[in-house]
Amino acid sequence: MKLDDELCLCFHVSKRKVLNFIRVNKPRVASELTDCSGAGTGCGWCRSYLCQLFERTDSSKPSSETERELDEPTTEQYAEARRKYVQDGHGTPPPGATTVN
Ligand code: FES
Repeated sequence: MKLDDELCLCFHVSKRKVLNFIRVNKPRVASELTDCSGAGTGCGWCRSYLCQLFERTDSSKPSSETERELDEPTTEQYAEARRKYVQDGHGTPPPGATTVN
């Protein structure tokens, strides 16, 4: 996934925006990432990825614990997995979200 790819497809929030939110706002818990344009509050697909990003950038942990490689899907893999997640009935995107075909 590239920096400007949408991490939250429901609310069109890019990975760059989330990383900047973490850097500027220093959230204490991953759930505070919902304050970043509602990321994670739609279908729920991106929540695990948001948590991984949060854990990876958690400055309260020693760097050896935060430097784990994030399991990075490609943009296409990420969108396809989200499409399947929604089609399988695990979450409902809000109106205006990136469509699931
Ligand atoms: S992709 Fe983020 S809540 Fe649906």
